[in-house]
Amino acid sequence: MRVPFYDIKAQYDDLASSMSEAVQSVLSSGVYVLGPNHNQLEREIADRHGITHGIGVANGTDALRILMDAVGIGEGDEVITPAFTFVASVETVVQTGATPVFVDIETESFGIDPAKIEAAITSRTKAILPVHLFGQLCRIDEIKAIADRHGLLLLEDGAQALDSHCNGKFAGQYGLGCGFSFYVTKNLGAAGDAGMIITNHDEVNEQCRSMRIHGMGRERYYYDHLGYTSRLDEIQAAVLRVKLQKLDAWNTQRQKLAEIYLRELADLPLTLPTVLNGNNHTWHQFSILTDRRDDLQAFLKARGADSMIYYPVPIHFHSPYLKYGNGKGSLPVTEQVCEQILNLPIQPHLSEDQIHHVARSVQEFLTTQS
Ligand SMILES: Cc1ncc(COP(=O)(O)O)c(C=O)c1O
Repeated sequence: MRVPFYDIKAQYDDLASSMSEAVQSVLSSGVYVLGPNHNQLEREIADRHGITHGIGVANGTDALRILMDAVGIGEGDEVITPAFTFVASVETVVQTGATPVFVDIETESFGIDPAKIEAAITSRTKAILPVHLFGQLCRIDEIKAIADRHGLLLLEDGAQALDSHCNGKFAGQYGLGCGFSFYVTKNLGAAGDAGMIITNHDEVNEQCRSMRIHGMGRERYYYDHLGYTSRLDEIQAAVLRVKLQKLDAWNTQRQKLAEIYLRELADLPLTLPTVLNGNNHTWHQFSILTDRRDDLQAFLKARGADSMIYYPVPIHFHSPYLKYGNGKGSLPVTEQVCEQILNLPIQPHLSEDQIHHVARSVQEFLTTQS
């Protein structure tokens, strides 16, 4: 049986006629940038998260970069961030001229370990940038308390945390702002690149809106600061709005598939994903830990099942970031997770039979192969 990890075409097939209609309607409108779909999408995403402002941008990386610029992070500042993340979380800190300071993670949320943050705070620390990975919030309440206690800015990388909340308090409600990605493979993915910043702060909203169009002020062709060309275009917004109508159903399906894994993989010698108290989980990824990861991945491949490794190498091991870290052994949990993590397929267009096939293959490997 074939079990693909991503099947974007299946999402399209689910919505083919409404998606084509939406794209056609944008093309025939002649409004391709900052049009009605874009404005509606900003409203819809902000409302879903109980947030005042949504600012559409070209991708999730720009969302983080613009957000950091907007709150004044730059040269001389330190930003506390994990090294277990997609590179953009750290890359954008470096691009502002600030220095990323890596703090190790804990294995329940795969987010920064709050117990290790205070030791990393110095007189230059300006902000904490926690990353909500795989579909649930990290220990954001504890992290926010630390940021408040030390007068630090809190910014959220919510690229993988659309619709994630803790006791009803959504990603974006904790920090000054939160960046989302609508990259193709995300739970809500565009037909290309797209991203959004959400914020409850009027000033941050104004700054981000200006920065995404070259730092232009309220008056056209008058510039208040350096900026970017980073808009979420109208065709992507139209596609996203069609897909948004299906997002709840798709996330419900992800939950159902996750429950099959959790049931069938219980009692095996591996670590299953944990959902933190109060958190929902949108199962952007289903991540297991095993010290036989590479052999298991090859075994699954031979059984027709794709899997992925998010992330095989911690950020502080990559050459552009070596100088910000303290080398091998400095972030032991991060480094071990990178060696042990395996992401099993969980996209909503997989059938229960396909998930049973993956689960049974994992069982077979762990109980019969030594
Ligand atoms: C944790 C994290 N941060 C930032 C990003 C950057 O988003 P994008 O790929 O839309 O630029 C991603 C997307 O892959 C991500 O997973």
